[in-house]
Amino acid sequence: MKEQGKIVWQCPSNIALVKYWGKRGNQLPSNASVSFVLDNAHTTTSIEYRKHNKRSSDIEIEFYFDGKLKESFSNRVLKYFEEMSTHFNFLRDYHFKIDTENNFPHSSGIASSASAMGALSLGLCSMDSMINEPLGEKDFFQKASFLARLGSGSACRSLYEGFSLWGKHKDFKNSSDEYAIPINDNIHSIYNNFKDTVLLLHKGEKEVSSSAGHELIKNHPFRDNRFQEAGKNITRLKKVLGNGDLQEFIEIVEAEALMLHALMMTSSPAFILFQPNTIEVIKKVWAFRKETKSQLMFTLDAGANVHLLYPEYDEEKVVEFIKNDLLVYCENGSYIRNEIGNGPVQITT
Ligand code: PMV
Repeated sequence: MKEQGKIVWQCPSNIALVKYWGKRGNQLPSNASVSFVLDNAHTTTSIEYRKHNKRSSDIEIEFYFDGKLKESFSNRVLKYFEEMSTHFNFLRDYHFKIDTENNFPHSSGIASSASAMGALSLGLCSMDSMINEPLGEKDFFQKASFLARLGSGSACRSLYEGFSLWGKHKDFKNSSDEYAIPINDNIHSIYNNFKDTVLLLHKGEKEVSSSAGHELIKNHPFRDNRFQEAGKNITRLKKVLGNGDLQEFIEIVEAEALMLHALMMTSSPAFILFQPNTIEVIKKVWAFRKETKSQLMFTLDAGANVHLLYPEYDEEKVVEFIKNDLLVYCENGSYIRNEIGNGPVQITT
């Protein structure tokens, strides 16, 4: 292992089809969730390391976001590194300079914590592989997924190509609450190059963080029903990912999105992350689907922006529809085109 060097990873964000909402213990999910990674929304994180002459009592990091020193993020990363020191024995032996940038805007309805924690944990795992025993590919990404989860739950689903499942579920025997697993065997070809266009309806900060939302589920009146529904939706989703039944896929995906927001609206205290335009767009999507018999659907994250999902063969008419009918609802006419992605890549420097 060199005394100094640099490791760079690019990691995608992901969008959940069956949602994770509610946690217990140390970032363990209350129900299993399924997502796919995006091909055009990623964080690139470079970790430069320089060995101290003698082990330091503190962890030393400098943190830059888009080339600027960022105190607020730096504290979160330092806290994460402190937690990581129980998993990695070398963190007090080096000075770290971390540079991170996203290729998508902040507050865009794309989970930047997922791609950021994914890229950071991959960098640390790479360093660990150089200093300690290198892991095989499967164990390497599983460890990165485990560690990303400790930074931000849904981040653990950003470590693989295509579709991932996080959380113990009876239909997936290798599933775990502690890390995500890839679930790309037996996926119907209808999902090849599956699209996700994110309409940026409202770029402001969310009024309630995901962490606060997860907390409110603990005493939520619909809690047990929700966990059961999520479990059933995973079973249904597994079936339709295999047989390509997009009709049922749409039912599951839209019900999950609306249920997530219904849970927010019925929490105590209640909160609403929809904006009027979110509802307008949903109604337009429903009308368009009825009229054109296309298989366009929506999903939502914990925010006002709408993710439009559709198969590759519907692309032309959906893009026309977005341009003609939906851009009026988008702030400054902004939207981001993604499709199902290939997962993280290490960048050689
Ligand atoms: O990973 P967190 O704590 O930011 O929670 C994310 C929760 C949702 O994005 C709303 C759903 C999900 O499964 O990604």
